[in-house]
Amino acid sequence: MKAIRVKQLRQGTPSIALETVDDPVISHPQEVIVKVLAVGLDGTDKEILQEKYGIPPQGEDDLTTGHESLGVVAEAGRESGFQPGDLVTAIVRRPCRNQSCVNCRNGHSDYCQTGEFVERGIKGAHGFLSEFYKEDGRYLVQVPSELLEHGVLVEPQSIVEKVWDQVLRVQQRLIWEPKAALILGSGPLGLLAAITCRVLGLDVYVWSRSPQDSLQAQLVKDCGGVYQPAEDGGISLTAYAEGLGKPLDLILECTGFSPLAFEAMSVLAPNGVLALLGVTPADRKLEISSDMLNQSMVLENKCVIGSVNAARKDFETAIYRLQQMEKMYPGWLYRLVTNRMKLDAVPQLDFASIPIKAVVDIVPVEQWRELVKQTNEVEYSFSV
Ligand code: BGC
Ligand code: ZN
Repeated sequence: MKAIRVKQLRQGTPSIALETVDDPVISHPQEVIVKVLAVGLDGTDKEILQEKYGIPPQGEDDLTTGHESLGVVAEAGRESGFQPGDLVTAIVRRPCRNQSCVNCRNGHSDYCQTGEFVERGIKGAHGFLSEFYKEDGRYLVQVPSELLEHGVLVEPQSIVEKVWDQVLRVQQRLIWEPKAALILGSGPLGLLAAITCRVLGLDVYVWSRSPQDSLQAQLVKDCGGVYQPAEDGGISLTAYAEGLGKPLDLILECTGFSPLAFEAMSVLAPNGVLALLGVTPADRKLEISSDMLNQSMVLENKCVIGSVNAARKDFETAIYRLQQMEKMYPGWLYRLVTNRMKLDAVPQLDFASIPIKAVVDIVPVEQWRELVKQTNEVEYSFSV
């Protein structure tokens, strides 16, 4: 089968290539062979493909990339719980083997304590940017066929669901009636965070570098949010937040630009939560008003949390939420995916040319429907 590989990752001169590799073969009754329909690309893939970040499986030099997948079960081991034709996505992280890691031992490898976890397509295991992949049924999540068109967004949305779940848990400390959310960044994650907050009934403000006439700004407005371009020499985040004249109960930092994370702490409302979701590979140093920040954090009960990866339940909530989004803002998710390409175009891909989100179609979209068994019995519904 064909696969996109970052080659010679352990050597000094890595390269990206479309390669022919062995087809996966079931070797255990719990395993499943998945035929990949599409894979979404994000900032992590950009780093892996451009900066040669990423770690190949033990004993190998090359890594098949891709971790945002949508596929259809081609072959199901008899104890896997799946059937050929089932539409599925895969959880990204696999637990570490350390018996003392209570989170990995309890289905929460997203909170792995040892750092010895594996992430498919990122760290220590091949990903999904290939025609097929093999997986233990435990790590697959069934996607209802009615979400076929947007199923490739379940993984990025799971990142938003995890953070929302964490925010709700943290805020059990008080009576919290959030009204307004500020989203920093208008990449795929920032935009999914924005529409999620709209679906949750919050007033949404998005602050980002994209201009006012960009598709990003339009998408924010089309889900009922307010967009503010962050321009060089323009209004500062602090001045903008003050000008809004209302408490920013929730701030989701999705840019990874760390100076903004510190500025966000000072504009956060009393009792509010600032969640940090982005990282950049840079090594910035910053002078901050540490006493002022410390004071406002303490005297106003503010909370800052970091959040990475997602657990199975976050994938399931993501499926539910994407369906809600499609009902409330029809066509919006469709516009988020700005670039679709075939597998053989990936080695030449220029990430700078992607306005918002790129998806690699391993199988042409017109052929998807006939491969998928029509099921609507997978219903994830939550009182969120
Ligand atoms: C993925 C996460 C992963 C993180 C760090 C993100 O792009 O969506 O699943 O944990 O990168 O590797
Ligand atoms: Zn662990």
